[in-house]
Amino acid sequence: MVTGELHIDDAAVELSLRPTLLQQYIGQEKVKENLDIFIQAAKMREEPLDHCLLYGPPGLGKTTLAAIIANEMNVAFRSTSGPAIERAGDLAAILSSLEVGDVLFIDEIHRIPRAVEEVLYSAMEDFFLDIVIGTGPSARSVKIDLPPFTLIGATTRSGLLSAPLRDRFGVLTRLDYYTEAELSEIVVRTADIFDAQINHEAAYEIARRSRGTPRIANRLLKRVRDISQVYGEKEISFETTTKSLEMLQVDKVGLDHIDHKLLRAIIENFKGRPVGLDTIAATIGEESQTIEDVYEPYLLQKGFIQRTPRGRVATHLAYEHFGYDIRED
Ligand code: ADE
Repeated sequence: MVTGELHIDDAAVELSLRPTLLQQYIGQEKVKENLDIFIQAAKMREEPLDHCLLYGPPGLGKTTLAAIIANEMNVAFRSTSGPAIERAGDLAAILSSLEVGDVLFIDEIHRIPRAVEEVLYSAMEDFFLDIVIGTGPSARSVKIDLPPFTLIGATTRSGLLSAPLRDRFGVLTRLDYYTEAELSEIVVRTADIFDAQINHEAAYEIARRSRGTPRIANRLLKRVRDISQVYGEKEISFETTTKSLEMLQVDKVGLDHIDHKLLRAIIENFKGRPVGLDTIAATIGEESQTIEDVYEPYLLQKGFIQRTPRGRVATHLAYEHFGYDIRED
């Protein structure tokens, strides 16, 4: 965004879009209801909130929710990620700088190295660190007391976490894809923050094509708004929205060109027979991990593909979507 001399970069815009209170957070009703109770109870007891694990597909608001929890608890929010904590010492530095009750958010917590994970156990359970300093004969173990804190871990799949780590979280929270009505509300809210008017049907169309994901809805809105602005519209219209989404190669159900490549690869290259994840990845030139975390969950949920013991298969729905004849066995 450019306002006179002032440049506000994309990351800052992203931050300004984030709700800061549970009450402003749209959707995930059951999750909010539970967290609200746990937060109230912890505040009444003047204790830190129990450690929370947030899991679910990317873009559903895990980081936002973690920041809201810290804000609602009136404590500081410290944020890092699994891959960023390379050694036990890195974790010790972060943990020993926390104040009583602070929230430490670890994104992609399934990616912390095993040696660091083991140090985390005592930190989570009894608020102390047991770390080895030095190597060889001069190595010694030191115990460092920590202030009671709340760890909030986020992961795309809770199954990737080791059982001992998962067991140390008192609150396990799964975020699910949003409904079209909720996404539409998010689009209207974001448009409002941008000071942009958007037609109701247009907001709903963006919602319908956002794969149940607020991050995608907000990204599509930004691009549609660019196009609408260049067209000189006062209000983002339905016609401009559908045209923009076509230009952005987002189809009627929200599948993008990578989803298309993936489905077409299964149908065309493998004639709909079961195909392994790595083979699909090599065929379309994407990372297996990205396919598994980002693309597959939505295609599975919408019933375009199925997982079988022998690999992924495209369903009748996928064939129909591309206008192919259904495969005869
Ligand atoms: N922006 C992104 N996700 C949101 C949510 N769940 N509620 C409100 N605004 C959001």
